[in-house]
Amino acid sequence: MTEAVLLVGGKGTRLRPLTINTPKPMVPAAGVPFLAHQLARARAAGVKHVVLATSYLAEVFEPYFGDGSAHGLRLTYVHEEEPLGTGGAIRQASIALTSGPTEPVLVFNGDILTGLDIGDLLLRHERAQADVTLHLTRVADPRAFGLVPTGPDGRVLAFTEKPRRPEEIVTDQINAGAYVFRREVIDTIPQGRPVSVERETFPGLLAARAVLHGVVDASYWLDLGRPAAFVQASADLVRGVVHSPAVPGDPGEFLVLPGARVADGARLLGGTVVGAGAYVAAGAVVEGSVVLDGARIEEGARVRASMVGTGARVGPRTLLDDVVIGDRSDIGADNELREGARVWCGTAIPDAAIRFSAV
Ligand code: GDD
Ligand code: MG
Repeated sequence: MTEAVLLVGGKGTRLRPLTINTPKPMVPAAGVPFLAHQLARARAAGVKHVVLATSYLAEVFEPYFGDGSAHGLRLTYVHEEEPLGTGGAIRQASIALTSGPTEPVLVFNGDILTGLDIGDLLLRHERAQADVTLHLTRVADPRAFGLVPTGPDGRVLAFTEKPRRPEEIVTDQINAGAYVFRREVIDTIPQGRPVSVERETFPGLLAARAVLHGVVDASYWLDLGRPAAFVQASADLVRGVVHSPAVPGDPGEFLVLPGARVADGARLLGGTVVGAGAYVAAGAVVEGSVVLDGARIEEGARVRASMVGTGARVGPRTLLDDVVIGDRSDIGADNELREGARVWCGTAIPDAAIRFSAV
């Protein structure tokens, strides 16, 4: 029986204000909390038991996912009072695992959308007889990630988390946030204190000559840590660019959830999702965006690559491009917000008050 640990305890700082009341994995992408996609993909790969390592806003997960039976899985929740970091969280979560010492345990960062073949990762782990196998991907700018150069046989040569100095950037291969650990390796992580798997555990294992094996994979991969990436991931899920069994509908240009209203003459494009009870008026164009439950997009508004929070309103003719509107905010008519502007929850912006902003 394959088990997995999902790391969902981060604060989601870069996604604020969406993550003020909702932990990042519970923010909806393509109509369901993002975590539902990860669970569905794990289940499709044959995972039967998932341990959710929670910390920040931990109380939100269980009421939605329960014991996991509605998602075809057994779910266990292990909560850290104080965040223990990625390694500390894995160690703490391992108290709920039933795998034997040499069995493989999957570990996933909770904010990654990927087309990775999980079964293949397990197979490669077994073949390499590795202590830990890491999913790696190539990115244009690796500086915000863990750098993982490998030898010709896939053996990991080093692990450098978020390199500062230019000479540290020796590869474009990065840690993609999915691992297979031999169970007994998890048991060597110190318990009860914060540990970073990236800064402490992996470098320590390498120094001790453990076998860390890298699997470079070219399938779809996105870290949803920033709003633009989150919105992109949702749109890609809706359009079927990347597949998730948890999307509530067939792939298409848009997804309208039950209870939403879209007026004749409104246009929905580019993988837009319109949440339950939301309303899009005539003449509005919403492209590649996430409109959360109960939000209103008024006549002639144009919304692109943006996230409109629960119960928020976007006034007539207002233009949003690459913007996050917090829950219950009210953006008046004839405003223009662009380039990463974020409006805090419950903010009211009068008519024609903002022409352009990158707050
Ligand atoms: N339970 C728990 N406790 N979870 C945590 C904690 C903690 O103290 N800290 C972080 N997490 C979870 C986050 O919720 C997230 O799912 C995951 O661990 C990774 O944390 P991020 O904060 O998203 O890290 P990152 O994106 O800067 O970097 C990580 O991911 C990159 C790939 O996206 C690292 O693993 C990098 O090496 C990697 O390249
Ligand atoms: Mg991340």
